[in-house]
This record gives sequence, C-alpha cells and structure tokens, in this order.
Amino acid sequence: MRVLGIVGSPRRGGNTDVLVERVLAGAWAHGIETEKVLLGELDIGPCRACYSCADSGQCVVGDDFHALLEKALDSVGIVLGSPMYVGTVTAQMKAFVDRVDCSQVEMVRVPSGEVRFRSRHRGRFGVVVAICDLSPLNELRHCARVMEACLRDLGANTVDEVLAQRLSDVGDVRKRPELLARAFRAGERLAAAIRGGEMG
Ligand SMILES: Cc1cc2nc3c(=O)[nH]c(=O)nc-3n(C[C@H](O)[C@H](O)[C@H](O)COP(=O)(O)O)c2cc1C
Repeated sequence: MRVLGIVGSPRRGGNTDVLVERVLAGAWAHGIETEKVLLGELDIGPCRACYSCADSGQCVVGDDFHALLEKALDSVGIVLGSPMYVGTVTAQMKAFVDRVDCSQVEMVRVPSGEVRFRSRHRGRFGVVVAICDLSPLNELRHCARVMEACLRDLGANTVDEVLAQRLSDVGDVRKRPELLARAFRAGERLAAAIRGGEMG
C-alpha cells in the first residue's frame, strides 16, 4: 500500500516539494509507505493529440510517462502538487495531466443516450497541493481543479486540498508552520480515507 507524491515544480527543495513531503509524512505517520517523484527530473513531453490511445489506452509517445503512470496506478494514494505559473499549473504538471487525460479516460454512453468521458480506473484517493505568490485565491483554486481532474482520471477521489499563497523563494514555506501542519493533516486524512476510516 503506497502513496505516491508527484511534484510539478522544477525546484527540488522548493515550496511545493516541501509541502508534498509534509503530506507524505502525514500518511507515513499512519503506517503507509510513501514515494516522491519530481516531474522536472523526468522526461515527460506534452500530448501530441495523435489519438493513438483512443481505443487502447496506451500512449505511444516514448518517454518517462509510462513508468510514472504505472507507478501511479500501482499506488492507492496520489498527491499532486504544483506552483502556479501564469495562472495555471507548471508546464511539467500540465504535460502529465494532459497525457493522463488523453490515455486513461474512455467514452461511455449513459442511459440517457448521451456520451460521457469516464476514467478507466477506480478505488484510489488523492490530495492536491497548489501554491502561489501574489495571485488571488480563485486563480489558485483553478490550479487545484486542474490537478483534481487528473486525480479523477487516475481513479482517485480528492479527499483534501492544500492551498498556500504568499510563497516565493525556496525555503519560504519552512517559515510557515501553519502550512506545514496543514499539509501534514492532509496526509493524515489521506491515510484515513485509504484505511476506510473517518477522521474528524
Ligand atoms: C514562470 C513563473 C510564473 C509564475 N507565475 C505566478 C503567478 O501567475 N501567480 C503567482 O502568484 N505566482 C507565480 N509565480 C511564483 C511561484 O508560484 C512561486 O514562486 C512558488 O512559490 C514557486 O514554487 P516552488 O518553490 O515550489 O518552485 C511564478 C513563478 C514562475 C517561475
């Protein structure tokens, strides 16, 4: 049973990295194995809209996406974290989100006759971490929504989201104990959801 943390910031040791680590620490404190990857240290290119994946669910772009997807699908919990770059998630996170969306979602006809998109997966839980500096909360929420959509595509229900503003330089978040505690608590909630329990 593992929780996988995926960091969308290119900065190892940056604010996103630290907060994702804290979420993982919260899950680990409840006996759940954790692992973290930084998208900036992997080779994951953007979706090419070739639609080769439409029937097979297999992306044909040959890079590190496949190994990371396998790791994510092999995890019961997924933490996605990204700083805001110009109103949305980083390019590294967006490439991952788009590749997941294209390949892991299928079209189904619902009883009303309409066609809907549905994840090929079920049974996971997730947390999103979205951070920014001076942008307003509604814009930060947009970043969280993008990552929440990705969690849905991976078959994960989002159980908590950590939103943090006024962060800029590497190390800023270490001076904000309330954010570190908030992220830890999100990890505990994730562990509780995974174990099927309830936390107040
Ligand atoms: C290219 C770029 C674009 C950014 N755009 C925004 C933005 O639109 N709004 C904002 O509040 N902060 C913006 N930031 C600031 C980052 O979100 C902020 O520094 C964050 O703490 C970086 O996270 P990290 O330490 O995990 O790398 C931007 C930073 C960069 C490098």
